[in-house]
Parts: sequence; C-alpha cells; structure tokens
Amino acid sequence: MSAMIIDGKATSARLMERLTEWVSADKAKLNKAPKLCVIIVGEDPASSVYVRRKGEQATKIGFGSQTIRFESDIDQKTILDAIVKANLDPEVNGILVQLPLPAHLDSLTLLQAIDPAKDVDGFTIHNAGALFSGQNKMIPCTPMGSMILLTEAVQSLGKSLKGLHAVVIGRSNIVGKPMAQLLLQADCTVTMAHSRTHDLASVCKSADIVVAAVGRPLMIKGDWIKKGAIVIDVGINRVDLDGKSKLLGDVDFEACLDHVGAISPVPGGVGPMTIACLMINTYASFRKAHNLKSIDLIKD
Ligand code: GUN
Repeated sequence: MSAMIIDGKATSARLMERLTEWVSADKAKLNKAPKLCVIIVGEDPASSVYVRRKGEQATKIGFGSQTIRFESDIDQKTILDAIVKANLDPEVNGILVQLPLPAHLDSLTLLQAIDPAKDVDGFTIHNAGALFSGQNKMIPCTPMGSMILLTEAVQSLGKSLKGLHAVVIGRSNIVGKPMAQLLLQADCTVTMAHSRTHDLASVCKSADIVVAAVGRPLMIKGDWIKKGAIVIDVGINRVDLDGKSKLLGDVDFEACLDHVGAISPVPGGVGPMTIACLMINTYASFRKAHNLKSIDLIKD
C-alpha cells in the first residue's frame, strides 16, 4: 500500500492564487486592499521567521502589511495601546499578536483586546465561542488549514468524514481545541488526547484520523497508526541533526508510509496552509468591512 502524501504547498499555492485574483479585482474597483498588522515581541528565532513569512506572503498577494516590533521587556500597556490603535484604524483588517509572548506579559488579556472582527487568529472569546456553538466566524488558521487538507485527502480516497474516529493529540487553544470542534462539525467521532492520556499508543491505534499537535519531534510512532488511517502532522519541531538544523513533525513519517492511507509531511504540509488561512481570514474581514458579500475560496 502506498500512502498518499498530502501536498499542503500545492493547496496553499492554489488558495493564494485565488486570493491574488480577488485582491487585484477589488483594487481595480475600490482602490483599496486588505491590510494585515502583525505584532511581535522579542527576538524568538522561530517567531521572527514566521512573522517575516507572514509579511512577505501578505505583500506577495497584494495586501498591505505592517509589522510592529517591541523589545522583549516591553510593558503590557504599550502593546495594549498598539492593539487599540490598530482596532481603530479603518485601513487595518487583520491583527495578529505572535505567540508565545514573554512570560511577564498577560497573553490572554492582550488577545481579548483585539476587535473580534479583526481577530484573524480566531483567539478572542467571541470567535472561540462562535466556533464552539457552530456559528463559525474567524476560525484559527492552523486547524482551518488542517481541515482543508483532511477534507481533500478523504475525498481523494473516496471516503467521507462522517462517523470516522478522529484522535486529536494536543489540547492547545491554538490547534487542539478548535480542531476538535471542526472535526465534530464534520460529524467525526472525536477523542481529545494529550500529555496525560493513558496508553496513547492504543488510543491512536483506534483512530481513522490522527491529528498530531504535541510539539515533540517524532513522538507518534509508525505502529501507533492503524492501516489506512489519515495522518495530519501539525508539529513543526526544529532539531539539530549531525550539526544541521532540520524540521521534524510530531509523527515518524517514514515509519508510517508503508501502511497509512494519507499523511501530511513536515515541511510542506500544514505549515503553508496556516499562512494561506491567515490571508483568507484577513480577506474575509476586508470584504465585511466594505460590505462585500462573503466568498468561499475553498469551494468556489
Ligand atoms: N504561534 C504559533 N502559532 C501561532 C498562531 O497560529 N498564531 C499566533 N498569533 N501565534 C502563533
């Protein structure tokens, strides 16, 4: 059995192409473009790379892009003021505070200060609550991207998500919890597993779908995954191997290849989808701000 490799790069490129066309048409009509504002605190190398990429990709598809950088010892009030200013700026459609923040800052309070209409991460209580009650507004980018890839993979395999047993490993607000909600909405039977789950191997083995979001390189072994299962690997772990820096997922990809139905690689799987979904959310916010009807870039 040869596994289908889920190509997140290709899917994200397709979405970004569609976005570029829409943005260019809007510019011609309205002389306006969506704008994304990203706030980053400190010099965390991974965060710096992600934020740079977000800015580059936004510019590439015709968005306006603003990055606000603060030193790692910045006080809460200064960041709060920057958020309030971006909330009030009619040119800004999306606001993102890159996580994690230094420990002296209160992340939850800062995130709740973002106008829910511009909360393109979907982390405000308003947007998280909407997702929980099935009235999706802004959906967090990584689970949204994972769900798009999963849906495509299931369709390619001639299956339906309805009734499949999905095991989500990891219970973060960024990935695990919203992912479980999306899977429930797709009629999956959902198990949330995490670092305290007893006999994680057996729990995984019972899954038709495994979504790994634990942040530990190669933790999920090949023999934890049942034959024909679909694996979405959300982990992006930078490790040093033989003096070289390498990205590894949470799943032992090589050990799964001979028996899974489909698997997303790292890199080239969920990673590029997260950025595409950030742009989708920012564009949706722009359309709403200009009273344009919403569009479904995934289906249309
Ligand atoms: N850090 C890791 N993932 C994310 C994300 O999706 N959004 C933000 N704001 N920070 C992150």
